[in-house]
Amino acid sequence: MCGIVGYIGDKQAAPILLEGLSKLEYRGYDSAGLAVRDGDKKVKVVKSKGRLSGLAEKTNDGKSLKGNCGIGHTRWATHGEPSETNAHPHVADDGTVTAVHNGIIENYQELKEKLQRHDYNFYSQTDTEVVVKLIDYYYKKYQVGPIDALAKTMVRVRGSYALVVMFADYPGEIYVARKDSPMIIGVKDKECFVASDVPAILNYTRDVIYIDNLEMARLSTDGAVFYNLDGDVVPKESSHIDWDAKAAEKGGFEHFMMKEIYEQPKAIEDTINSALNDGKIDLEAMGLKDDIIKDISDITIVACGSAYHVGVAAQYVFEDIARIPVRVELASEFRYRNPILNEKGMVIVISQSGETADTLAALREAKEMGIRTLAIVNVVGSSIAREADNVFYTLAGPEISVATTKGYTTQLVASYLIAIQFAKVRGKIDDKQYDYYLSELKTLPEKINKIIDDKDRIQWFSAKFANAKDVFFIGRGIDYAICLEGSLKLKEISYVHSEAYAAGELKHGTISLIEDGTLVIGVITQPELYEKTVSNMLEVKSRGAYLMGLTSYGHYETEDTANFTVYVPKIDEHFSACLAVIPLQLLGYYFSVARGNDVDKPRNLAKSVTVE
Ligand code: G6P
Repeated sequence: MCGIVGYIGDKQAAPILLEGLSKLEYRGYDSAGLAVRDGDKKVKVVKSKGRLSGLAEKTNDGKSLKGNCGIGHTRWATHGEPSETNAHPHVADDGTVTAVHNGIIENYQELKEKLQRHDYNFYSQTDTEVVVKLIDYYYKKYQVGPIDALAKTMVRVRGSYALVVMFADYPGEIYVARKDSPMIIGVKDKECFVASDVPAILNYTRDVIYIDNLEMARLSTDGAVFYNLDGDVVPKESSHIDWDAKAAEKGGFEHFMMKEIYEQPKAIEDTINSALNDGKIDLEAMGLKDDIIKDISDITIVACGSAYHVGVAAQYVFEDIARIPVRVELASEFRYRNPILNEKGMVIVISQSGETADTLAALREAKEMGIRTLAIVNVVGSSIAREADNVFYTLAGPEISVATTKGYTTQLVASYLIAIQFAKVRGKIDDKQYDYYLSELKTLPEKINKIIDDKDRIQWFSAKFANAKDVFFIGRGIDYAICLEGSLKLKEISYVHSEAYAAGELKHGTISLIEDGTLVIGVITQPELYEKTVSNMLEVKSRGAYLMGLTSYGHYETEDTANFTVYVPKIDEHFSACLAVIPLQLLGYYFSVARGNDVDKPRNLAKSVTVE
């Protein structure tokens, strides 16, 4: 989704804005632009379609745009095609207001007509130009300053926005307004930053202030002042972000995705350790006391994309070891379904970014119904983290590649830890089983390292099959959950069509797609389901499929069925998703590389989907 950076301070703004935007490239975009102001001179705007390098070229790496105050934007088109005209920043006709915007203004058509009746003309097809001109309209009509004009605009627009605005009459100041779109303010001596995402400003400051929904702020070299909709000042504290700026760099790897695959053992170890106190799982620190855990009637897991796949795997684990009913829902469906939730139930939302619009809306829906909410989130201070009743932070660090890897596996680990604790507190496992599960979890980092060490075989195999037309993943139980994620990893970055099927379901239609040489990947890590899935693999093999088996060491008989077999270390079967997904991440990666794709920035996708 779109990226925003803004700067006011004693340095030249344009190079800082360009660098900040480059850190947000991973979010996905199709055009970019800058607006920079030199003292009280007129704002200069430069925009360019395509990659950020075009904008850097046009501005001589920012050097030709002089000034200490500026805003920048990378656009992911929603209203209007990707073009220089539609790119942000947008400017009111006489230059009174210049702004960039993330989000969607739902009633922009109605507002546009209103403004047209007041003689405003429009040069672009964007909802952003409408909001810029609406600010201009209120600013001029009421003449009581930027905060008042912004507040009036906020009351009038429907939708979501992170707005960063410069007013011609207020040089040396940047104004921001927010509703439902991520935005943070970075502060430093005599400097202020604004960004849609932490990595954009990590190189400059790690002290941030969170702006809440329906709040505004004025940024200047004197710092940031926050306001509510009534124009009253809202006092705020700054927070320190632990992420290291280096964590958001490639560090010698060709792609962020491979770097992040390698970071999984450490991220998992950190996540496990963060939930332990004296060697035992402690959920009290995140607000889940034992009597609360005992009292919960059922769990609804709500998430999108890979986080949803975590939910599918977690459902098996929770139900099997904690014997608590769990259902898993796609956030985009949940919120429009008028869901029936048990008042003693708990809703767990899972989100790496903590900003996914549908997941956030689902969380709010559950909260409105008075249901306890727990969020498994990676980004500290994100909207979901701030709004959920309880938060379990995964310690994956910044994840840059659009295709999630360490985000997914740390979310899995978080849900395992919660499931084990629920099982123990609710008396479903004894101390011995508890210790066993915990010690198994602790073996994950070492075992993942072992799988990564063996990556050359996957690379070789991927090169051989990179031209495949279709790939099918089949498995049962937790193996089916692994298939969902493996299939998504493959298709999202290699653009090879792939589907995940519960192995027993294949016969009900999909098997008709199997032709001579079709690649079918059978995931068989669940001992009890091993033979059943192998039978399904044989069914497709006899119809011409080429079989890859993914199983645990020891199941060497897989080679009697599969044409190519990948082994992962043995682990308690409940946790196998966390190991078996690694070769599938590598498979997606190497398919993508072999096909010459942009691994970290796949077409049409965004890292954090902040619109519905
Ligand atoms: C996007 C990303 C996916 C991610 C999904 C949910 O589609 O490309 O990798 O799984 O959003 O994101 P979240 O931040 O809520 O985990």
